[in-house]
Amino acid sequence: MHKDLEEILIPTAELNAGIKKLGERISLDYAGRCVSLVGVLKGCVLFMADLVKHLSIDTRMDFMMLSSYSGAQSTGVVRTILDLKENIEGRDVLIIEDIVDSGLTMHYMLQNLRTRHPKSLEICTLLDKPSCRKAKVPIKYTGFTIPDKFVVGYGLDYNEIYRNLPYIGVLKKSAIEGKKT
Ligand code: IMP
Ligand code: MG
Repeated sequence: MHKDLEEILIPTAELNAGIKKLGERISLDYAGRCVSLVGVLKGCVLFMADLVKHLSIDTRMDFMMLSSYSGAQSTGVVRTILDLKENIEGRDVLIIEDIVDSGLTMHYMLQNLRTRHPKSLEICTLLDKPSCRKAKVPIKYTGFTIPDKFVVGYGLDYNEIYRNLPYIGVLKKSAIEGKKT
């Protein structure tokens, strides 16, 4: 375990099993269709890479980069930093997100993507922290529901560090307070 972690919340084997299940569900639900996956950078990268290997349907992949976070606190303001390259009009769009916390990012994503008239629009998140919700968002696929703790690893960062950890861990308070940003 990384020295800055308090505990490992979801070990690698559990992550793999959960993601395989998600992939199987999505493959069944979208059988015979081509799903346009929209990954939310950068947190989605490890999750999306593993999830797509369990999809037996055709996929398109595109990415958006948004910003709502600075350090461990949400600023509540969501901005588009990088937009989609492809047109999603008439497509079955599935947003791939690392974690839904306040819900403000996904609320913004749904509003933004709806204006482009996809045929369908759903959310798939690896982690859900429902206790922190400020905006209601309908999540179709959830990998794991977690308590109100600041987690890192498997794509999730604290000030851009820890994304490479192959598990989800809880960051020590001292690592949060002690780091210069
Ligand atoms: P929301 O807008 O509050 O739902 O936050 C969504 C974004 O905040 C996620 O896509 C993450 O990038 C980031 N985030 C929220 N909670 C955590 C966490 O516990 N660890 C790392 N990043 C987080
Ligand atoms: Mg994110």
